[in-house]
Amino acid sequence: MEFKQQYAAYQQAIEEYLNGIFTADKPYGRLQEAMRYSILGGGKRIRPVLTLEFARLGGIDWHLALPYACALELVHNYSLIHDDLPCMDDDDLRRGQPTTHKKFGETLAVLAGDALQPEAFRLIAEAPCMSDGSRVEAVRVLARACGADGMVAGQVLDTLYGIHTEEQLKAMYRLKTGVMISGAAELGCVAADMPADMRAQAVEFADRLGLAFQIRDDMLDVVGDQQVFGKPIGSDKEEGKITYVDVDGLEGCARAVESCTQKAKDAVAHWPEHDFLFALADQLVDAMEQELAPIPGESMSLGDIDRAVTELGKQFDTLLAEAANGDADEYAERFRTISTTMEELKRRKAAILGIRQEQEQISRRIHA
Ligand code: IPE
Ligand code: IPE
Ligand code: MG
Ligand code: MG
Ligand code: MG
Repeated sequence: MEFKQQYAAYQQAIEEYLNGIFTADKPYGRLQEAMRYSILGGGKRIRPVLTLEFARLGGIDWHLALPYACALELVHNYSLIHDDLPCMDDDDLRRGQPTTHKKFGETLAVLAGDALQPEAFRLIAEAPCMSDGSRVEAVRVLARACGADGMVAGQVLDTLYGIHTEEQLKAMYRLKTGVMISGAAELGCVAADMPADMRAQAVEFADRLGLAFQIRDDMLDVVGDQQVFGKPIGSDKEEGKITYVDVDGLEGCARAVESCTQKAKDAVAHWPEHDFLFALADQLVDAMEQELAPIPGESMSLGDIDRAVTELGKQFDTLLAEAANGDADEYAERFRTISTTMEELKRRKAAILGIRQEQEQISRRIHA
């Protein structure tokens, strides 16, 4: 199945599963409402999709892994509700909608987050068709990912410690974001009872993807398009956070995202069925460029430029095939035109990234 279709199939199953929980009529119905507001608010579902794909790669019917996948997604959503609170990142917008505390008030937002955590572990404990051993292992994996040495530790470092070197940032990103993404992959492996070596490679893939994911998130917090990003732009700066953009610049971030993505792919490159994982990793890089806000006065976005370069690359290959049977001189001029245009587009891409970096430095000076 094509990547997009497979992703859509996973997504639909996840939406249906999540839509079926916390539906009972309760005298404290506002709690259910707040929990459902968060979990059904239009998340991309990257983490549960990873669980389902690794379960499938492990050889089981992926539907069986839905309780594990959605358990982690509940914890992810609790982490976002709390992350947006005034005492944390103080954000009003998430997925293009008011954050949970803006909609329901702080008290209910905190409590909805609290409730999502044990409910996640309940989903695992009650997962049908899984052995007791599998369920215990899944509980351990999720607890380790989100607990005191996992995501919460990362959030503590992010909000309460002065993190500012590249190494410190990477370590903090691994904790606040990476471990939940690698935990998601690992849950799929646990569901399928995958051999230890493959499980380690799956974790490696997701760990590197997680780092790329957070660096990309930092970039979009500076140069993203709020309409697409669904979150306020400039939130990190407003909170006085040092991010990867500060230490490595936008171009450095773009390079880091590409290199982490490549390393992620390397971890599973020898798996016979790695197409979906590769496409998922590539999509993160591609989607980022489409999420960037256009620069005033610049007619092409980075996404437009990349699409044009890809198109020219195809024309180049076609011409190459034609030239093999024809007169070389006749084709030389056409080759030159394509290469010159490609070079010009790449130069514009570098210039756009440079302009953004300057904009960023100016705004940093203004805010200093
Ligand atoms: C947001 O994660 C939090 C980060 C780790 C950057 P996602 O971008 O996966 O959030 P949703 O669930 O798709 O909204
Ligand atoms: C969030 O990091 C990580 C967790 C929620 C654990 P960010 O604070 O950068 O995420 P966004 O940008 O608010 O989604
Ligand atoms: Mg945060
Ligand atoms: Mg935040
Ligand atoms: Mg962010």
